[in-house]
Amino acid sequence: MKIDKIFKNNEEWVQQKLTLDKDYFKNLSKGQDPDILYIGCSDSRVTAEELMGVAPGDAFVHRNIANMVPNTDLSAMSVIDYAVVYLKVKHIVVCGHYYCGGVKAAMESADLGILNPWLRNIRDVYRIHKDELNAITDEDAKYKRLVELNVQEQCINVIKTAEVQSAYIDRGIKVHGWVFDVHSGKLIDLKIDFAKVMEDVMEIYRLKK
Ligand code: CO
Repeated sequence: MKIDKIFKNNEEWVQQKLTLDKDYFKNLSKGQDPDILYIGCSDSRVTAEELMGVAPGDAFVHRNIANMVPNTDLSAMSVIDYAVVYLKVKHIVVCGHYYCGGVKAAMESADLGILNPWLRNIRDVYRIHKDELNAITDEDAKYKRLVELNVQEQCINVIKTAEVQSAYIDRGIKVHGWVFDVHSGKLIDLKIDFAKVMEDVMEIYRLKK
């Protein structure tokens, strides 16, 4: 991909949008009111808007290696705060994906420098679910299951925040765990029992009376 091509693509895209609606960008510049906060992986194959079929303005997006929500990560915590408190999103999605390089790296024994503390969060997910994962003999199946369990644990990290707990009590905000299957292009809803997870998490992490 040549960098100059990107600017040509952009020109064509602007023209396409204006042909359909001459006020498209004028309206876009008025502000944003997205219903969804999407937290996904930085992986170049897992686009946020394209795989969900949504337009600019529909989703507030945060991406990092392996779609993590570390409790002390200022970036992730700021995104959640802004999306929940100011944009008042109705849904928070954590979307992982099969064949995630970050999850794969966390399954292997290697010193990866600055990536070590980041990937350690995934190793923590493995430790929490060690019995289930160690019982899976097929490596590919184990890898896929860790991707799913990581999504589940990151959803729990989302629920641990005071902003999300308040929004749940006040206006019933929902948290969803999804996986994108790069091999088929399909988006899979892990159907996490949100009410039950919320109850379990709140038993220990409740910040709101
Ligand atoms: Co990934």
